[in-house]
Amino acid sequence: MSEDIFKKIVSHCKEYGFVFPSSEIYDGLGAVYDYGQMGVELKNNIKKYWWDSMVLLNENVVGIDSAIFMHPTIWKASGHVDAFNDPLIDNKDSKKRYRADVLIEEYLAKIDDKINKEVEKAAKRFGESFDEAMFRQTNQRVLDQQAKRDQVHTRFAEALNENNLDEIRQIIIDCEIVCPISGTRNWTDVRQFNLMFATEMGSTADGAMKVYLRPETAQGIFVNFLNVQKTGRMKVPFGIAQIGKAFRNEIVARQFIFRMREFEQMEMQFFVRPGEELQWFSKWKETRMKWHKALGFGDQKYRFHDHDKLAHYANAATDIEFEMPFGFKEVEGIHSRTDFDLSSHEKFSGKKIQYFDPELNKSYTPYVVETSIGVDRMFLTVMSAAYTEEQVEGSESRVVLKFPPALAPIKLAVLPLLKKDNLPEKAREIIDSLKFDFKCQYDEKDSIGKRYRRQDAIGTPYCVTVDHQTLQDNTVTIRYRDTMEQERVAIDKLSDIISDKVSLKTLLKKLN
Ligand code: GAP
Repeated sequence: MSEDIFKKIVSHCKEYGFVFPSSEIYDGLGAVYDYGQMGVELKNNIKKYWWDSMVLLNENVVGIDSAIFMHPTIWKASGHVDAFNDPLIDNKDSKKRYRADVLIEEYLAKIDDKINKEVEKAAKRFGESFDEAMFRQTNQRVLDQQAKRDQVHTRFAEALNENNLDEIRQIIIDCEIVCPISGTRNWTDVRQFNLMFATEMGSTADGAMKVYLRPETAQGIFVNFLNVQKTGRMKVPFGIAQIGKAFRNEIVARQFIFRMREFEQMEMQFFVRPGEELQWFSKWKETRMKWHKALGFGDQKYRFHDHDKLAHYANAATDIEFEMPFGFKEVEGIHSRTDFDLSSHEKFSGKKIQYFDPELNKSYTPYVVETSIGVDRMFLTVMSAAYTEEQVEGSESRVVLKFPPALAPIKLAVLPLLKKDNLPEKAREIIDSLKFDFKCQYDEKDSIGKRYRRQDAIGTPYCVTVDHQTLQDNTVTIRYRDTMEQERVAIDKLSDIISDKVSLKTLLKKLN
């Protein structure tokens, strides 16, 4: 059912100019996508919401924009050359390649589903008197499934932490996980696969240098730590924010823009005193969750998921997960990265990277708390939450994207009732007076009903209709996307009605 909705969202994104497969006329390029005329507006609004929440609302957070290409030693220092790997496994019959860890995670998720179904069935059977906690503790079928899950989960977490590829394969065999295509268990060994794209810089005659396309934007921040700290006279604690492209040669690239090979990240590295990192980690966890929830998609759609396997640089890590049509999935990571990156760059570059703390009267390597969110995953979150199919009057239905108005690509559509009698000119006049504040769209084709549907489908919160009465008394009909209610208002009131609702400021104020 939800998978169905997901397919509909993907085709809606294409049909209405949000997201196109890259290089489509050449049959596409795996896991690479282009944003269309609506998509780019939505994406820019998401980025602005994030950027302003970081650099406007926090006096001690500043932004940068570092280059995608960086000195190759940076990726040695960061650990990406040696450790930025995914375990892959092939099925010998279907010749399909999978991420071994994902196969096991999906197996665990299936057990969770079974348990939840038992609970749901019982809840229906017992009605009001149902005690879920008691049921989970006493029902034998649930207990058996839970024990099985816990056992596999413990083995899996240990294997990941020890990088034990043979054990990961053995778990796949023992759990009788089959290839979804061939249905067989004819698996190869598990191998590590580095996710970084490499290319060459400079001509061969000059001696070309192997460089990488950055797999995260964070390193551009670390290597600029001293530049920003010194030129900005920043005092610890402070943060550096950045939005930019990142590239990963993902083994399995499915689920549309959820896992891409070229994507965009919004990352903030917050530099703190050693020993204070876990306090800041909690603070940023809370702040970031608030940012998500302020969009009003429903608090129950979010949860934290602590990492089973900590990355080589972290002493605490959690994900913010959102309930996508295909289940709860990671949208953002919050990581306590210790002093790993700055210390490592100090070692590899031979340059001292320390901060003199005037209050403590000593120098140290700051610790780092990172918040890292994918723009594209956030885009998918917004799309999934906004996509709504509704029955309207009788048998008619509509697809409406219920975007928070501040994120909507178009804020206002202006529609002349007829293509004559000076109504188009009047409509243009309204757009000309409002276009400095809001992204407006003019549409005169087809019936008003059809035009409303088109605006619903791209999530425009307000439609204004210009009719003959407008010419006499300068009033228009404004129609609200979510309620479909209409009212007659004066043209000079339009700006006031709309501006508060569509302004990012209103959204940002919820975060203070
Ligand atoms: N600097 C830390 C870092 O990059 P990550 O958990 O690997 O951490 C952070 O990535 C976020 O970037 C993820 O939560 C996700 O939103 C996004 N992301 C990562 N890989 C992605 C991919 N292949 N496609 C789209 N978004 C991705």
